[in-house]
Amino acid sequence: MISPAGPSAQSPFATAPQDTVIETRNLAKVYRDFWGREKVRALKPLDLNIRKGEIFGLLGPNGSGKTTTIKLLLGLLFPTSGEAFVLGEKASDVTKNERIGYLPEETYLYRFLNAEETLDFYGKLFNIPTQVRRERAKELIVQVGLEKARKRQLKEYSKGMTRRVGLAQALINDPELVVLDEPTTGLDPLGCREMKDLILDLKRRGKTVLMCSHLLADVQDVCDRIAILHQGELKELGRVDELLKLADATEIRTSHLSDEAKAEVRAVLERHGARIDRIDHPTTTLEELFLNIVRDAEVRPGRRACGDQ
Ligand SMILES: Nc1ncnc2c1ncn2[C@@H]1O[C@H](COP(=O)(O)OP(=O)(O)OP(=O)(O)O)[C@@H](O)[C@H]1O
Ligand SMILES: [Mg+2]
Repeated sequence: MISPAGPSAQSPFATAPQDTVIETRNLAKVYRDFWGREKVRALKPLDLNIRKGEIFGLLGPNGSGKTTTIKLLLGLLFPTSGEAFVLGEKASDVTKNERIGYLPEETYLYRFLNAEETLDFYGKLFNIPTQVRRERAKELIVQVGLEKARKRQLKEYSKGMTRRVGLAQALINDPELVVLDEPTTGLDPLGCREMKDLILDLKRRGKTVLMCSHLLADVQDVCDRIAILHQGELKELGRVDELLKLADATEIRTSHLSDEAKAEVRAVLERHGARIDRIDHPTTTLEELFLNIVRDAEVRPGRRACGDQ
C-alpha cells in the first residue's frame, strides 16, 4: 500500500521547513555487545535537514558512521537516542520505504536471475501492475546500460554490472527519495561518470538523493550539499560550492591570450599590488582525459598510442 505523498496530518516536521524530506534530531547509535556493553559509538547526536530535490552527500572515512546513518533512516536499525523522520513519517515506520529506493553498500540480489527477472521480481514486491512493471524494467535496463546483458544471470556479472542492476532495482518503484550507499564502488571511470549522470538525472526529475561515499571527486561532481562525518561526529555541513570556494583567490579564464596581452595583464595586476601565483594553461582532470581516450577508442578501435615517454 502506498502512503499519501507528503507529510502526514500530525506532521513531525512542524518546526522544519516545508520541503524537508529527511530530518534527524540528536540521532545517535551505539552498537552493544552480547552482554549489552557499549562496543562502538557509531553515530554521535546528529542534526540534519535534507530538502526535497537536493542531492545530499554523506562523506567520511571508513567506519565514520555513514551506513549506520542510512540504516537508521530506513528503520533497519533502532537509534540509541534521538529521532529521525523521513518523507513525513517516523524513520522506524518501514511502510514509508515503499516510497524510497535503496542501493545498499553490498547488493544482495538473486544470483540465478537475469536483470529482467530481477527487476520483475522486485516490481512484484511493490505490487506494480504487470504492464507498468515490464515497461519500467525495460527503461531502467537501458538507463543503467545493461541492455546487452539483460538475459545473463547475475552470477556472471562483473562488480560494475552488479552495481548497475542494483541501481535499477532501487528505482523500480519510481521512488521520491533515493538512498545510495557508495554508488560508484566497483565501477570503472566510465561507469562512475554514467552513475553520476544518472544521479543528476534523478535530481532533474525532482527526486531527492542521499548518497554516501568516500570518493571525494564523485561527491564534488554531483552533490549540492554535504555533511562530513568523522568517528560518528558531524564535522562539516554546507553547500559544496561554498565549502570549496577559495575566497581570497581570483581566477580569470580566457582562451587564446597572446604573450603580449599576458604581459599587459601581469603589469596591471602588479600595479594593483596583487601577488601573481600562477599564469598558466589549466589542466584537465584525469577523469576527463581517461573518458576522452576510452570514447575515442570506441569510435576508432584500431588506433594505438605511440608515446615515447
Ligand atoms: N553491526 C555492527 N556491530 C558492531 N559495530 C558495528 C556494526 N556495524 C557497524 N559497526 C561499527 O560502527 C562504526 C561505523 O560503521 P559504518 O558501517 O556506519 O561506517 P561507514 O562510514 O559506512 O564505513 P565504510 O566507509 O567503511 O562503509 C564502525 O566502527 C563499525 O565497526
Ligand atoms: Mg558504509
